[in-house]
Amino acid sequence: MKNILVTGGAGFIGSNFIRYVFDKAGFKGRVVNLDKLTYAGNPENLADIQRKFKGRYAFVKGDICDFKTVAGVMKKYKISEIVHFAAESHVDRSIFGPKDFIETNIHGTFSLLEAARTIWGIGNREPGVGNRGSGKFRFHHVSTDEVYGSLGKTGKFKETTPYDPHSPYSASKASSDHLVRAYSDTYGLPITISNCSNNYGPYHFPEKLIPLAILNALEGKPLPVYGDGLQVRDWLYVEDHCAAIWKILKKGRAGETYNIGGNCEMKNINVVKGICAALERAVPARHNKALGGKKYSDLITYVKDRAGHDRRYAIDFSKLKKELGWQPSVRFAGGLAKTVDWYLANPGWVKNVKSGAYRSWLRKNYTR
Ligand code: NAD
Ligand code: DAU
Repeated sequence: MKNILVTGGAGFIGSNFIRYVFDKAGFKGRVVNLDKLTYAGNPENLADIQRKFKGRYAFVKGDICDFKTVAGVMKKYKISEIVHFAAESHVDRSIFGPKDFIETNIHGTFSLLEAARTIWGIGNREPGVGNRGSGKFRFHHVSTDEVYGSLGKTGKFKETTPYDPHSPYSASKASSDHLVRAYSDTYGLPITISNCSNNYGPYHFPEKLIPLAILNALEGKPLPVYGDGLQVRDWLYVEDHCAAIWKILKKGRAGETYNIGGNCEMKNINVVKGICAALERAVPARHNKALGGKKYSDLITYVKDRAGHDRRYAIDFSKLKKELGWQPSVRFAGGLAKTVDWYLANPGWVKNVKSGAYRSWLRKNYTR
C-alpha cells in the first residue's frame, strides 16, 4: 500500500483532498500532511480525520523549503507519492508582499523536487530513456490556470497555451510548473501537473471572494467588487477538483499536464449577486438584524480594481475528460447553496479563523 505525502494539507484544497482520499477514494494506506501552518493553514480543518483515521493520518508541522525536513519525512514514512498543494495562494497578498510567494512557491517546490529525486534514487536521465519509476513513484504538482494569463472575449486555455502570468502569485506558480517539468525532462522524475480554475466550497479562507462575500453579507458589511466586476472566472466545486487530482495521481501519464475546470464561466458581479440570492434563501434579510432593514444586494460596493487584474479565465479540460473520464459533477447554484450552508453550520470555525493571525495581518497590511 502506498504512503502519500500531501504538502499544504491544512489549507483549503489540501484539507478537502485528504478528506476525499479517506472518505471517498477508498484509499487504504497512510497520508502524511506536511504543512507550515501559515495564516492559511488550520489543523482544525482535519480534526475529524485526525480522530477517525488515527494511525493512517499523520500531521507534520514543517516548511517545504527545508530540504532536510522534507527528506526526513519521506524516509521516515516511506513516501512513494507526493501531492504538492503547499503554496502562498492569494493574488492580492502577492501584490502587497511577493517575497513569501517566491520563497514557498519556487524555492519550496525546488526543495521538494530535490528530495523526491534523492530519496527515490532517480539520477540523471539517459538520452532516450523515459520517465523513471513511473509505476512506483509519482510527484503530482497542483497548479493554477492563472499561469496562462488573461483571455479575450472568446477562447479557452489549453494545456498548450503559452504561459503569460501577470501577478507575482501566478509568476511564482508558473516558475514552479517549469521546474517540475524540467525535473521530468532532465532527470526523468515521474511527475504530473494540473492547472485548475477557481475553487469554492467548505474550509475556504475568508480572504477569497466567495467566503469573504458570504461572511461579510451575514454581518451586514460591504461586499467589495473590484473594478467594474465584469471579470470572468471559471468556478469549480472543491470536491470535483479533489476527484480530478485523485484520477490524475492514479491514472495520469507521467510527464503530462492536465487542465481542470468547472465549465462555469461567471462574471464576478454575478457571483456576488448569486451569493446574495443564496443567502436570502437560507437567512432572509428581514430576519438578519445585522442588515438593519437592507437587502443583501444593497451591500455590494464597487472598489478600486486589483493591479494587473486578469480579465477572463476559461478552461478547456477535454484532455482530462477524454483520457481519464473526469468531468465536473456539481453545478454552481447547488455548490454555492452547499457552501453557504456549510458556513452557517460552522460558526466556531469561522470565529477561530477570523480572530487569529489573519485578522492582525489584515489590520497591518490590508488598506483597501
Ligand atoms: P491555501 O492558502 O488555502 O493553503 C495553502 C497551505 O499551504 C496552507 O495550509 C499553508 O499553511 C501551507 N503552506 C504555505 N507555505 C508553506 C510552506 N512553506 N511549507 C509548508 N506548508 C506551507 O491554498 P489553497 O487555495 O488550498 O491552494 C492549494 C494549492 O492549489 C496551491 O498550490 C494553489 O496555487 C493551487 N490552486 C488553488 C486554486 C484555488 O482556487 N484556491 C485553484 C487552482 C490551484
Ligand atoms: O484561478 C485560480 C486561482 O483562483 C487560484 O490559483 C488562486 O490560488 C485563488 O486564490 C483564485 O485566485 P483569484 O484571484 O481568482 O481568487 P479571488 O477569490 O481572490 O478573486 C476572484 C475574483 O474576484 C477575482 O477576479 C478578483 C475578484 N475579487 C476578489 C476579492 C477578494 C473581488 O472583486 N472582490 C474581492 O473582495
